[in-house]
Amino acid sequence: MKRTFSVAPMLDWTDRHYRYFARLISRQALLYTEMVTTGAIIHGKGDYLAFNEEEHPLALQLGGSNPADLAHCAKLAQARGYDEVNLNVGCPSDRVQNGRFGACLMAEPQLVAECVQAMQAVVDIPVTVKTRIGIDEQDSYGFLTDFVGTVAEAGCEVFTIHARKAWLKGLSPKENREIPELDYPRAYRLKQDFPGLNISVNGGVKSLDECEAHLQHLDGVMVGREAYQDPYMMAAVDSRLYGDDRLPLSRAEVVEQMIPYLERHIAQGGRANHVTRHMLGLFNGMPGARQWRRYLAQNAHLPGMGASVLSDALASLPESAVAA
Ligand SMILES: Cc1cc2nc3c(=O)[nH]c(=O)nc-3n(C[C@H](O)[C@H](O)[C@H](O)COP(=O)(O)O)c2cc1C
Repeated sequence: MKRTFSVAPMLDWTDRHYRYFARLISRQALLYTEMVTTGAIIHGKGDYLAFNEEEHPLALQLGGSNPADLAHCAKLAQARGYDEVNLNVGCPSDRVQNGRFGACLMAEPQLVAECVQAMQAVVDIPVTVKTRIGIDEQDSYGFLTDFVGTVAEAGCEVFTIHARKAWLKGLSPKENREIPELDYPRAYRLKQDFPGLNISVNGGVKSLDECEAHLQHLDGVMVGREAYQDPYMMAAVDSRLYGDDRLPLSRAEVVEQMIPYLERHIAQGGRANHVTRHMLGLFNGMPGARQWRRYLAQNAHLPGMGASVLSDALASLPESAVAA
């Protein structure tokens, strides 16, 4: 599995419908689930591990800090067919801090090491960590290398570094994705000091040009918001970042392939907008982008709406958007 380009775990955004859709745009990108807590998996009523086979390569992101619970969930993930299990050490929300997981775990490298060790002992798939460059006043390079060094010693070989610190008090999760300054050179330096680790950078990346620049220094780039808001930016990922020259689907072909998927979802009792809400940005930057977005936003939630909402939205676009 090559981690050159990955789509970040995003709660409420990278659900299995988005991931099915993203996979039609890039065959190679590594996709992450939303964070799923060990509590939800162990005690919840729903099936939090469900995915479509087409989504591979696919990593499950876990939230938790109890080694035994994480090991149990990692084992379930492997049995279900996930390609990787990732531990969230980056989320700053209050709710997560109360559960003592997410970014606040950066202050407890030994515990993270125990978590990683417990998971690795029971699975063969890679156990990886997504983290920040620091938390609160603990933002020196030494703090980051102590954390990464301790967790790497426990056997973790793959890290994704969101290249800004998190303020655990006073900032909302959204502000914590915008206000603390990005420091890419810190991630580059980490790779120099830990050349044996596979290190991806995350945060603020908006184009494949930027990805290529980061890849001069690092093993991979993880893109979050841009891959959601302008998903067709991923259409050139395979050729530019993986040397895979198969032609990508056009935007219209992506829509056509989503129609049978949406039909199945509706046949199983789902609503059209569960799926189409992830597709609103597909025509971004094209003539008709606003029309596409508006058509879906106004129609897909209507009771009884079928998969024809996608073909109708497509038919409402100018020819130049559909042909591109
Ligand atoms: C709506 C939303 C939900 C997110 N949920 C998660 C999550 O579940 N787990 C996680 O590690 N990060 C989460 N993040 C953070 C992203 O994974 C990523 O680190 C962050 O958005 C920075 O990357 P970007 O600038 O490319 O978006 C979330 C971000 C957004 C916008």
